[in-house]
Amino acid sequence: MSLRVFVPCETTALSLGAGDVATLISREAEARGLEIELVRNGSRGLFWLEPLVEVDDGTGRRAFGPVDTADVASLLDSHFGDDHPLALGPTDELPWLKQQQRVTFARLGVTDPVSLNDYRATGGFDGLHNALELTPQQLVDKVKASGLRGRGGAAFPTGIKWQTVLDAAGAQKYIVCNADEGDSGTFADRLVMECDPYMLIEGMIIAGLAVGATQGYIYLREEYPLAHRHLDLAIARAEAAGYLGNNIQNSGRAFALEVRLGAGAYICGEETSLLESLEGKRGMVRAKPPLPAIEGLFGLPTVVNNVLSLAAVPSILRDGPEHYAGFGVERSRGTLPFQLAGNIAQGGLVELAFGHSLRELIEDFGGGSASGRPVRAVQVGGPLGAYLSPAQFDTALDYEAFSAIGAVLGHGGVVVFDDSVDMAEQARFSMEFCVEESCGKCTPCRIGSTRGVEVIDRIMRGENRDANMALLEDLCDTMIQGSLCAMGGMTPFPVKSAYTLFPEDFQRQGGEA
Ligand SMILES: Cc1cc2nc3c(=O)[nH]c(=O)nc-3n(C[C@H](O)[C@H](O)[C@H](O)COP(=O)(O)O)c2cc1C
Ligand code: SF4
Repeated sequence: MSLRVFVPCETTALSLGAGDVATLISREAEARGLEIELVRNGSRGLFWLEPLVEVDDGTGRRAFGPVDTADVASLLDSHFGDDHPLALGPTDELPWLKQQQRVTFARLGVTDPVSLNDYRATGGFDGLHNALELTPQQLVDKVKASGLRGRGGAAFPTGIKWQTVLDAAGAQKYIVCNADEGDSGTFADRLVMECDPYMLIEGMIIAGLAVGATQGYIYLREEYPLAHRHLDLAIARAEAAGYLGNNIQNSGRAFALEVRLGAGAYICGEETSLLESLEGKRGMVRAKPPLPAIEGLFGLPTVVNNVLSLAAVPSILRDGPEHYAGFGVERSRGTLPFQLAGNIAQGGLVELAFGHSLRELIEDFGGGSASGRPVRAVQVGGPLGAYLSPAQFDTALDYEAFSAIGAVLGHGGVVVFDDSVDMAEQARFSMEFCVEESCGKCTPCRIGSTRGVEVIDRIMRGENRDANMALLEDLCDTMIQGSLCAMGGMTPFPVKSAYTLFPEDFQRQGGEA
């Protein structure tokens, strides 16, 4: 067997030089008369080791990283030997990977993302084949039994959403995948779409079979061009192989799928705004009810699910709902792919069953801050998530435990800050973000966020501090209670947590109290 060499084709790895490394490996191997098979795999999600090159001589995959073009000649000269300074040993034994519970991301970085053969050889489409044997109600029941809750942020039970769409009357129903992934520090959706696109496609087909929808759309943020290319290619190949189209695997059932691009507005990740945008209109939030499940795209019953929710479905149908529900705690079943970002030594994707602690994530997996300074704050769950202080790092990573401390897990984004952070600046940033991204439909959010920036500016200058702090508190409560959607309704969470947990940062400037 010739040596198989794997070099990731995923965006993070590419931005760190994986493309040049791959080209050079081919060239240098040829110059040495060494026969290799170069495979462009997805990323394993160990970003601090990218470009992570793997080799397999028939005895299993071994990893090397981070590989620079300057390392290629010596790697080949050593025949990718275990004594090379960049040798990391067998990939599956890397503690960072071994200590995870990879369920949805089991295939991540293992396969060539757009190879149908690779996908099928690793259990791909087994879930769909099982699904084709079941009735819609049996399918919905399986998803209910798995305990899967929406991974886009609100954690709404996926099976119940599907039941509503199944029960709704409509000549046409839709499956819409929310791939807008706007939360700070998040990239799990991108990794699915770039590194395992058939998994999302399979999940959407199964969702269609479950609720009686024959058309699906992936609403993809335009900033993900590689995900777009991989999805388009994978959809075309799945169609050619009879997984999509009018007669899925000769079952007589139909499902068609298209990608639609968003234009970079955070609010278009909110499901009703997304539907407006998909219909070709400006992304403005719709009042609920009616729920999208009853009156969604073009006024018809629509499942809107996050990429990760849909990507979890094939394994639920392949391995059974009990297997998925076997991970996690209490009402948080299964796994969540956490995304470590910000000032962190070892950033990347960590898929864990619910119930581990935030400290494990930051210290054991993340290795502390990248700067080497003490970690002072962490924002979990995107720009609308609360800031947490080290005293809260032992909180269990589950939906209810986070809710109990006024925080959210959201889409699993974890952004780390060291002790050089100014939390008053961060609070200001939250309000400013809302000013930029508000759809403008309701006053507490549209006007409130602008006033919020002004009030925080006055506090930071030390002007009438006590009165302005009281005003900020009042404003936050008004936004929470009076906003139409979570954009205005949750912006106060990071603001409030910043001044509650880090009050000293709001008192830096002198001035009358
Ligand atoms: C301001 C705002 C932005 C959002 N952005 C996203 C997003 O980028 N991706 C996502 O899946 N859900 C996002 N959501 C949540 C969606 O409205 C919706 O709950 C989700 O797509 C439902 O899918 P799920 O049940 O699978 O989580 C956002 C919500 C709000 C209020
Ligand atoms: S809270 Fe903000 S984003 Fe949401 S509907 Fe109101 S103005 Fe629009």
